[in-house]
Amino acid sequence: MILGIGTDICDVRRIRALHDKHPERFAAKAFTPREREVCDARPDPVPCLAKRFAAKEAVAKALATEFSGALSWHDVEVINAASGRPDVLLHGGAAARLRDLLPEGHAARIRISLSDERDYAVAFAVVEARPGC
Ligand SMILES: CC(C)(COP(=O)(O)OP(=O)(O)OC[C@H]1O[C@@H](n2cnc3c(N)ncnc32)[C@H](O)[C@@H]1OP(=O)(O)O)[C@@H](O)C(=O)NCCC(=O)NCCS
Repeated sequence: MILGIGTDICDVRRIRALHDKHPERFAAKAFTPREREVCDARPDPVPCLAKRFAAKEAVAKALATEFSGALSWHDVEVINAASGRPDVLLHGGAAARLRDLLPEGHAARIRISLSDERDYAVAFAVVEARPGC
């Protein structure tokens, strides 16, 4: 059963401006150490950061919440499988929000898909529940 979907588009130029102006402050506020490590290893980290920024917003929408109050940017973390496929780990307020949404006796899975072109990054997220723990 699908519990929620979310999508977001992010202007890569906006992320580049924030990144160029306050590289350390912006990255530390919005991204986990693991996300920063992955993006810093790319020839240009900014599109990678922009995709993860869009992913966090898309997951927040799929969880039907806003990025304020209980949720922090670090609560939604994007990781990559060995194949490159992106995956999501939830922490803190986001994990609690998912537990609230989940019908009893169900396990949750979040799927995301990311893409980018020169100026834009997009993300799509689906929150799914399956019977079983
Ligand atoms: C892996 C692949 C999907 C990446 O596509 P791309 O156009 O180079 O890149 P995009 O900008 O659209 O998307 C990049 C994102 O795709 C995601 N991605 C990478 N590998 C993936 C995989 N195996 N499965 C799902 N998503 C993947 C990642 O999130 C990546 O961003 P990230 O590395 O920052 O996390 C592509 O190289 C590929 O193998 N495509 C298959 C094409 C195909 O079979 N076409 C025939 C259609 S009939």
